[in-house]
Amino acid sequence: MPYIAQVEEMNKRFQAEKGYAPKYIILTYGCQMNEHDSETLAGMLEKMGYEKALAENEADLILLNTCCIREKAESKVLSHLGELRKLKKDKPWLIIGVCGCMTQQKDIVETIRHAASYVQLIFGTYNMHHLPEYLAQILSDDSNCYNIFAKEEEIVEGLPAKREYPFKALVNIIYGCNNFCTYCIVPYVRGRERSRSIANIVSEVEALVHDGVKEITLLGQNVNSYGKDLKDGTNFAKLIAEIEKVRGLKRVRYMTSHPKDFSDELIEVLKKSQKVPHYLHLPVQSGSSRILKRMNRGYSKEDYLELIRKIKEALPDIAITTDIIVGFPGETEEDFQETLDLVRKVEFDNAFSFVYSKRPGTPAAVMEDNVSAEEKKERLARLNALLAEFSHKKNQAYLGKTEEVLVEGLSKNNAETLMGRTKSNKTVIFSGDEALIGKFIPVKITEAQSWILKGEVAL
Ligand code: SAH
Ligand code: SF4
Ligand code: F3S
Repeated sequence: MPYIAQVEEMNKRFQAEKGYAPKYIILTYGCQMNEHDSETLAGMLEKMGYEKALAENEADLILLNTCCIREKAESKVLSHLGELRKLKKDKPWLIIGVCGCMTQQKDIVETIRHAASYVQLIFGTYNMHHLPEYLAQILSDDSNCYNIFAKEEEIVEGLPAKREYPFKALVNIIYGCNNFCTYCIVPYVRGRERSRSIANIVSEVEALVHDGVKEITLLGQNVNSYGKDLKDGTNFAKLIAEIEKVRGLKRVRYMTSHPKDFSDELIEVLKKSQKVPHYLHLPVQSGSSRILKRMNRGYSKEDYLELIRKIKEALPDIAITTDIIVGFPGETEEDFQETLDLVRKVEFDNAFSFVYSKRPGTPAAVMEDNVSAEEKKERLARLNALLAEFSHKKNQAYLGKTEEVLVEGLSKNNAETLMGRTKSNKTVIFSGDEALIGKFIPVKITEAQSWILKGEVAL
């Protein structure tokens, strides 16, 4: 890539002039797709001679990798951009860039251009591999570079990545989404489904394992759709079966599953699997069949419950988590009661619950909505109380048990303790030596709260 060499050259000049290599920081909003994209952006930047900054005020390049799934996500980005104005004033050569899902929306790009004219670089989700070219342009003539592709390009393989963890990694298997759930912006900002080939995925996984990775998470908006676009009989169940064979790999996670595409073949593969933990994130969104239809989810409450029954029959110890939206346009108290009823029937281990947020351009944005904001908030509180009850109950069952935990790092709230995850993806906090980070170790569970477990190393 000539642009990489060009920017590297310019960065060498920067270093000669200023006495330090230029530093970058990427602020990532949103889901694991964005987290993984940020790893790729970081990989490209380091290839060009940038070094990672520990704080925004020491950076020479700040990239905001944005999310627009709910209004709140967008307003967070816009308010943070406002705060960066001062940094740009103090350091005129600072490059501020915005990329990610928000920038695939034309009116948002206009808002950014007007409200934050000091943003010099804007690019979208389809063209992030062009970053070296954009930087080369800005560094040569200090111009603005706004470049959003309206259409997705072919998948670009082999981009460098700077992974956040040495022992676990995110691996994209399918980009985009074809489902068009009526509330959701993702298909508009991430494009249609594009699957990577099994060969490319497996060779990436092999390379990761060679580098010391023990756990991978296969990523897609709907992993169960994997392979459909390849039209050669490839599917998610077959992919999992192939990845299982990679020697040295210990755990294979995946997200997100869509209930309408969860096949019996996949249940069979999961049953036989030695490496896929018995954990499933299966967003239901609502327990009302009427609302599910309006959401265009492609299944009814009964279909979802039947799928859960089949999965629990095959994998009795499985932990199941979900996503739920309350206050979708037209949701009545009866509809909401159906959601509570479904939660009671499934007994989720954990759930992410959201108040519906109107996304301009989506079909739901023009649906009549006669439920007040207050009522929606109140429903969310009732739902959360019920979810906490079940999460607590599920966690209680772990008391006294010894779980295999992958130690991920220091705990966020208390740097004296470690945090890791069980096979069932539960967060466990415990005391131990930092040398345990990146290792699988047995931890005995001594305390079970609603959202976390506490334990002690049982080596
Ligand atoms: N692809 C995944 C989820 C992507 S977005 C899936 O299909 O399940 C993550 C979650 O955000 C969704 O599951 C949904 O619960 C929530 N979400 C998406 N759009 C939303 C909106 N407009 N308002 C509120 N929550 C939303
Ligand atoms: Fe959005 Fe639905 Fe696609 Fe998930 S499956 S990303 S909720 S459109
Ligand atoms: Fe947000 Fe884009 Fe993910 S909108 S949730 S970052 S795919």
